[in-house]
Amino acid sequence: MRRKIIAGNWKMNKTIVEAQALARAIKDKVGNVTAPVVLVCPPFTALTETAMLLKDSEIQLGGQNMHEAESGAFTGEISSEMLLTSGCAYVILGHSERREFFSESDKLVNAKTIKALEAGLIPIVCVGETLDQRESGDMKKVIEEQVTGSLDSLSESDMKKTVIAYEPVWAIGTGKTASPEQAEEVHVHIRTILAEKYGRETAEVVSILYGGSVKASNADGLFCKNNIDGALIGGASLKADEFSAVVNAMESAGG
Ligand code: PGA
Repeated sequence: MRRKIIAGNWKMNKTIVEAQALARAIKDKVGNVTAPVVLVCPPFTALTETAMLLKDSEIQLGGQNMHEAESGAFTGEISSEMLLTSGCAYVILGHSERREFFSESDKLVNAKTIKALEAGLIPIVCVGETLDQRESGDMKKVIEEQVTGSLDSLSESDMKKTVIAYEPVWAIGTGKTASPEQAEEVHVHIRTILAEKYGRETAEVVSILYGGSVKASNADGLFCKNNIDGALIGGASLKADEFSAVVNAMESAGG
């Protein structure tokens, strides 16, 4: 059975006090849920306080990004050790906003992924095509390049620990969701790429999350697909009711 995960990506939202309030509200609703794994990824400044608040719950904590170096002169950056010691078990890497606004390449995402695994963090590596790429028929090629580039030279055991998030750029924050069939098609494509490289057994244990305008009203349709193992949620993760309802949808679909 693949690990099912519902992850909230709070992006650049929530001060410490606001993050505490949101974490408290989510904890009240789904703090005891163990399947799926429930994960929140607050901004760096709110990690410690959120971790303290969630200590006696099952909810996990993740960073939204990290630097690939151990430490040193990288003004403004955050290391894997800083995330770990702030209570993180996961880290989102290569989000399309990082790729677009901060010029992150597959090569850089790969270096970060390797560092995260070495440090003992579970990377959630994001891939996804733009609308132009989809409309010009390049979707499969783009996804293949991102998957192979971002996950280059991972050992089989590291691959098994890694989580992938398919997030079509045209569906992020736009209110447009990929249909369950469109999402499933890409998830199968990703799993096939993994199977070619690592074999079927490894490909079958990698959790592949869908992200892009996921909310309570479209979660059921997505989660009944065989290869959709959860969600990475932006906007809807800022509302405790909505986020918890998506967690409950995954529980009903078989956690
Ligand atoms: P969204 O964001 O749910 O607001 O579309 C998803 C994401 O960027 O992870």
